[in-house]
This record gives sequence, C-alpha cells and structure tokens, in this order.
Amino acid sequence: MGRDGPFARWRHKPLAVAMGIAGALLKPTPVYTRGRRNALDLRRVEFELELPGLPASFDGYRILHLSDTHLDYFPELVPAARSLLAGIEVDMLALTGDVQGLHRNPIEQATGLLMEALQDVRVRGPRLAVLGNHDPIAMADVLAREGFEVLINRSAVLEQGGDRLRVTGLDDVNSFYTEAAQRALGEHEDEFRIALIHSPEVADDADAAGYALYLCGHTHGGQICLPGGRPVMTRLRRCHHAASGLWRQGDMIGYTNRGLGVAGLPLRFNSRGEAAVITLRRPGR
Ligand SMILES: [Fe+2]
Repeated sequence: MGRDGPFARWRHKPLAVAMGIAGALLKPTPVYTRGRRNALDLRRVEFELELPGLPASFDGYRILHLSDTHLDYFPELVPAARSLLAGIEVDMLALTGDVQGLHRNPIEQATGLLMEALQDVRVRGPRLAVLGNHDPIAMADVLAREGFEVLINRSAVLEQGGDRLRVTGLDDVNSFYTEAAQRALGEHEDEFRIALIHSPEVADDADAAGYALYLCGHTHGGQICLPGGRPVMTRLRRCHHAASGLWRQGDMIGYTNRGLGVAGLPLRFNSRGEAAVITLRRPGR
C-alpha cells in the first residue's frame, strides 16, 4: 500500500517491455553509445548544508551519500565507481536503497560489487542503509554481513562529544508503505533527526514530524532527461518538487541523490550518476 493508495504494479510490465524494445532499437546506433558513455561518467558532488539545531559536536560531520547503485545490472560501472570514491574520508556512509538491479540476480552479486566499489573509502563511523523498491527483504541480512546497520522503521543514535544525532530509516515507502513506517517517522520529535528514506515521497510527512534533513534517491535524477536536466520520468506519485538534487520542504532540507547506477536501460542523457559528500554545518559559525 502506498502513501496515496495501492501501488500500481501492473504498470511495471509494459514499462519494462517498452524499455526492452527501446534498448534493442537504440543499441546499434551512436545514441546508445553516447548514453552508455554518459552512464559511466560519474560525478562526485560535494557541498555543505547549514542545519539549524545541529548539535555542536556534529559541526563538520561528513556523510557519503550513495543511492541506487544497481551494480549487478551494469557491472561495467564498478571500476568507474571505485575510482570516483577512492580516497574519500567521511564520518558516516548513508546508503538510501536500491542496491539490487535485477531480481533474478543473486543478492550477493549486487552487494559484492558495491563493496568492491567502496574498497578505497574510509568511513570512520557507521554505515547506515535503508532498502529500496528493488531490494528484497533478504538484502537487509546481506548488507548487515557487510557491516551495514539496516534501518527498517527504526532509528540509530550517533553520539559524539556528548551530543546526539538520531538517524531514522524507513522501509521503502514507494512499494511497502506501512503504518509502522509512519509511526517510526513520528518518534523522538524532540531530538535532532535525519531521515534516510529511499524515495522522496514522504518529504511532507518528515517535515511535519520536524526532521532537519532528508536523504533519498529512487528517481535517478530522471536518468533520461531533456536538455537542461528536466526528467522525462521520475516515477514519483507525490512530492514532485523533490525529484532531483537539493530541495526544501518547509523547514527541512532534502537531497535526492541522482543515483550511482542505472535501471531500465544502461543509459543516461542530460544526467549523470553521482556520489554525494555532504558536510553538516551549524548556521552562523
Ligand atoms: Fe533505483
């Protein structure tokens, strides 16, 4: 059940068939070659975010935010991802779902390729993850074996210098929205909280619940966009303003990661895959 009613799963099949036909028609053309090259041309996006109420000890806290890696679907991305990520040092790794690309592939294939891509990253603190709509529930155990703490409708408390920062992760709200997710979102409202949620589709609820920051993915930034970066399709049913990059919802700041990987077709147009390095700052330092 989705936030606004049952998710229309019947739409998946025709879309997959249409993608397959489009891919087959494009494959012998230079357009396909260009789109594939674009998909391999990853970007490291680095920025600071001023967050009112950020506990003093977390000023300068660095998060590597990855999403929608889907590396089993497009393993050629692994060397590009590894060199993109090499040498990054952060306090926390936040993975906002869709590690898996194709359901028929073993989960360990997707996670193994992700760990290969992460080999030269140094994460001083926790590795937190939530599941996406492509991830089966068994992904939670596999990620846990790789050292991730998987947040399914619960939160983790980070403590530093006597301060606390709470990170809440929900099950994928695009496919598996539940009352438990809504309940988890509303808890600990007197604390400074960051939400990790696969899709931006509950940004309004998170803002109403008092979150300072919302990190998500799911849209791939459109993946195939018109010139200027306007997505042709985002698969969002609500919160359309949060389709890509930085946005604001009331008092909350959000970031919709454009995803490291691709799905549907191994192509990108007017859009690039990315890894985001986010530094948290107290306003008016
Ligand atoms: Fe995805």
